[in-house]
Amino acid sequence: QNTHIVTILRTKQAVKSALQILRNSQKTIGFVPTMGALHQGHLSLVENAKLSSDVVLVSIFVNPTQFNNKEDFEKYPITIEEDLLLLEKIGVDFIFLPSVEEMYPSPILLKMDFGDLDKTLEGTYRPGHFSGVGVVVSKLLNIVKPDKSYFGQKDLQQVAIIKQLVADLSIDVEIVVVPTIREADGLAMSSRNVRLNAEERLIATILYKCLVFAKDELLAGTDWFVIREKVTKRFHDEPEARLEYFELVQTESLEKLERIKGQTSVSICTAAYIGDVRLIDNLSIV
Ligand code: PAJ
Repeated sequence: QNTHIVTILRTKQAVKSALQILRNSQKTIGFVPTMGALHQGHLSLVENAKLSSDVVLVSIFVNPTQFNNKEDFEKYPITIEEDLLLLEKIGVDFIFLPSVEEMYPSPILLKMDFGDLDKTLEGTYRPGHFSGVGVVVSKLLNIVKPDKSYFGQKDLQQVAIIKQLVADLSIDVEIVVVPTIREADGLAMSSRNVRLNAEERLIATILYKCLVFAKDELLAGTDWFVIREKVTKRFHDEPEARLEYFELVQTESLEKLERIKGQTSVSICTAAYIGDVRLIDNLSIV
């Protein structure tokens, strides 16, 4: 099968010039922001974009301002050659590959506060993370000006925050949410999975197993605190795993719940260290 011609754009100006002409001829632009080290989860966003937009642009930028942990930033996998081959094969139109200087020509002073949305779950353990995400996604949406932008359900809190961001700033874009893609044994695909050694890779399924266990128990009527106690114990029995949180939340507001509530949509969210790799996952209940 032929690989497609993909145009690599490295500057804001290059993006503007390349997209202007397409926008003028009424083409819809789909945008998939990523930090690279692409896997099937990212490619699923791209597939969705290809189905519902005329032109697809993928950005690859390891955004320094969203890493609250220096070591996590330094160890973040970079596989740009493989990424480009994958995107050529799947057939995107443009890749935006800016340098840090291009994205941050001067130090940013802006801090973003998302109220209750960033004071819970990931926000508790990664201070400043969502401010960094909010700033970089705002910048990228301003540069690309897409009709639709695609985000993964895997990062449920990020989705809630991005939806709030575009509403609060009246950014004219449709946010499309794509389901989580998993390995055969249930582990959610993540760029950080490559940092797991063989033993840790097997242990890492504990996140998904506990989510499924908790969902089944919850739907069977078991009390949330009883479920969470069992999950905590299961993590405790696994020396290589360290649970950070395991919470039942309202899917949009992220409000913590103690039981399934009426008609609202509910999810279980978790984060845990496997060895020294921090993983997150979530499962929607109703
Ligand atoms: P990154 O972690 O590279 O993820 C890019 C997009 O892929 C996000 O929307 C994420 O939710 C989605 N994704 C990751 N794993 C997935 C999986 N297993 N199934 C489905 N989708 C998945 O998220 C970021 O980058 C950054 O915060 C970013 C939005 C690019 C801002 O820097």
